[in-house]
Amino acid sequence: MKKLSLPVVILFLSINLFAQKFEDLVMTPPMGWNSWNKFGCDVSESIIKRMADAMVQSGMAKAGYQYIIIDDCWQIGRDAEGNILADSLRFPSGIGALAEYVHSKGLKFGIYSCVGDKTCAGRPGSRGHEYQDALMYASWGVDYLKYDFCFHEKLNAESAYQTMRDALYAAKRPVVFSICEWGSNQPWLWAKDIGNLWRTTKDIYPCTNCDGDFKSGWLNILEEQVPLWKYAGPGHWNDPDMLEVGNGGMNFLESRSHFVMWCMLAAPLILGNDLSTMSQETLSILSNEEVIGINQDTLGKQAYRYLTNEGVDIWVKPLSGQRYAITILNKTKNSTTYEFSWKWWGKCFFADSPEDEPYEIYNVFEKKKLGTTENNFEAKLQGRDVILLIMSKM
Ligand code: GLA
Repeated sequence: MKKLSLPVVILFLSINLFAQKFEDLVMTPPMGWNSWNKFGCDVSESIIKRMADAMVQSGMAKAGYQYIIIDDCWQIGRDAEGNILADSLRFPSGIGALAEYVHSKGLKFGIYSCVGDKTCAGRPGSRGHEYQDALMYASWGVDYLKYDFCFHEKLNAESAYQTMRDALYAAKRPVVFSICEWGSNQPWLWAKDIGNLWRTTKDIYPCTNCDGDFKSGWLNILEEQVPLWKYAGPGHWNDPDMLEVGNGGMNFLESRSHFVMWCMLAAPLILGNDLSTMSQETLSILSNEEVIGINQDTLGKQAYRYLTNEGVDIWVKPLSGQRYAITILNKTKNSTTYEFSWKWWGKCFFADSPEDEPYEIYNVFEKKKLGTTENNFEAKLQGRDVILLIMSKM
């Protein structure tokens, strides 16, 4: 066997000893768009360009959405040197040129690969090519990598993701690293120093509470997030999967509640709909400044569920400036009325504040102040509706 020279060994060791995740990326949850939920394998250069154009024209870029991410099926093979090749029929100008186009719109560019030697859709994965792929992504100007877990052949998840993290770091272009192993190996326990976000569930579908082999509605996914609030924070987020708002399968209130709850969860806000044809209703849900503000709050706390009773949930998200966002979510299909006394509840909600200090209540969707926590509160909710309140010190 050929002996490695000392400088090569030192270089290799130092790359790996000092490898780490890039600092200071996504200190608030990433916001963007991904091709999978709407287009699946039917992706192409023209679709991606259309989405980048629509992101800017619709005002969504101004609302904070930044990343345009191509999911599975852009890859077709490898050349004789092992370099990853894009499908040249669907991406005739090449991925580098597409990234340049996305950047020219003031947006960031993301791509997808997989731990295994095949992706979930059977395209070439990165196994054994991690450093080579990372260098290619850097040369194309990739800013975000979603890295899946199909065909892992029982690889240890933590080491597999660490390998790609190290490869990205060695390639020297800061990349947001999105771990997608569906929560199967509890990434919230080990991924904080490896990735910037980690999927916590199987795939989301455009429905409220459907449940199948590898698919879930947003209400089922929400339930699974209950114990995870303590693991999220700036630069390392739980990812309950992308948004389905605008993809049908849900009425207005269900779609709005899905979005509000993803904001409460400090979830990455990765849109999954066709941005070029979305309705005013979809746009109004997804671009609501105050709701997005709760997601993007700099404290970076994920909401915890304070109580659940007869199909109604109360979730609390601490915000900067000693404020709190509170949602009252009706998970049932029937209307309901909820009455309560803040004085009693507040002792638990506002743990860091003197019990007797009242808070001012602001209803986000009614855009009005509702008095203070000194009064009792009555909430009337239609089926699957949510009330979103911001509480601040007077
Ligand atoms: C898995 C992921 C999805 C998507 C597909 C692509 O199912 O969980 O989000 O990336 O693979 O094949």
